[in-house]
Amino acid sequence: MQTSKKLTEKVTWVGKVDWDLIKFHGEEFSTVKGSSYNSYLVRDKKTALIDTVWEPYDREFVNNLKKVIDLREIDYIVINHGEIDHSGALPELLREIPGTPIYCTKNGVRSLQGHYHEDWNFHPVKTGDTLNLGETTLTFVEAPMLHWPDTMFTYMDSERILFSNDAFGQHYATESLYNDKVDQCELFAEALKYYANILTPFSPRVKKKIEEVLAMDLAVDMICTSHGVIWKHDPLQIVNKYMDWADAYQENQITVVYDTMWEGTRRMAEAIAVGIQEADGDVTVKLFNAGKEDKNDIVTEIFRSKAVLFGSSTVNNRYLSAIGGLMEMVKGLKFQKKKAAAFGSYGWSGESVKLLTKDLEAAGFAVVNEGHRTQWAPDEEALEACAGFGRDFAQSV
Ligand code: FEO
Repeated sequence: MQTSKKLTEKVTWVGKVDWDLIKFHGEEFSTVKGSSYNSYLVRDKKTALIDTVWEPYDREFVNNLKKVIDLREIDYIVINHGEIDHSGALPELLREIPGTPIYCTKNGVRSLQGHYHEDWNFHPVKTGDTLNLGETTLTFVEAPMLHWPDTMFTYMDSERILFSNDAFGQHYATESLYNDKVDQCELFAEALKYYANILTPFSPRVKKKIEEVLAMDLAVDMICTSHGVIWKHDPLQIVNKYMDWADAYQENQITVVYDTMWEGTRRMAEAIAVGIQEADGDVTVKLFNAGKEDKNDIVTEIFRSKAVLFGSSTVNNRYLSAIGGLMEMVKGLKFQKKKAAAFGSYGWSGESVKLLTKDLEAAGFAVVNEGHRTQWAPDEEALEACAGFGRDFAQSV
């Protein structure tokens, strides 16, 4: 496994490819394709290190860095974002080179002090501030909420590189590093999953920030992210994708998400899907059992959809916990301009549909009807009623 790679005359990748990672942010994000923590060494008359790696790899990172440079030659450290997957090796590194100035935003200082409780040599920067390294000047651009309040981008003029940190990244391990050297379906699936699950709540800011950076008219030959590939071939393609995704993105898709106790709600979901297809043969319909499927994949499919149906049996006067977990996620993600409705089977009290409807509204979905309930196990007549509900839903979205 490579530990460094020269990208240009002045820039060397010195990060960590993490093929082993299967969960990120605790259990919150599935990383079935692994990830990477990208760190970059920029060498001119002066040398700057941009970002580090996650803490479990701190010693490995510092040892590998020593193979590339005498650590005492590092004049500056730039931390574009203080989350520990990028700042985690700072304590180990600063034990070797104490006092090295750290350039980050004012919120970056708060974040790093909050994580490490160290009084390091911080140099807070704001948009337009620069750091001259010789022939190279680094320019800082604050990018709050892409995706934390402390985030910034760093632009390197001599090699025309934008160091974008999490923005434009993916949890995707690759030894090839460059975007044109990997499977394009995998790459864009992971980039979309990353956007849908991490950046969706900040879409209005994403659009505005990209427009602001484009207006600066910076020539960009490469976008060096902090996770996944480096966008070298046609780097603006991912910027254009982000502009699409940030603009209340949707495809002609309806996603049906359900959980079921004794298969009644599953059978309802399947009958509803038949009804949707009968009403609109062009729409893509996808069904997911929230109790079995990967929650981040479901979120990604909801992101792609123009409308969603949430279904659950009633248990203890409520809906099932797998749907409850997903509902919490979609509330936080603040999807825009998506329609929705609820359905579910029940035996006795039957509150799930009413509660789902209320919570879908609270999550920002435009709920198009009061939902559909079936008591006891659905028979043929009940399933035909579900298909009718599906037909009506397809017509109303
Ligand atoms: Fe990759 Fe927000 O850390």
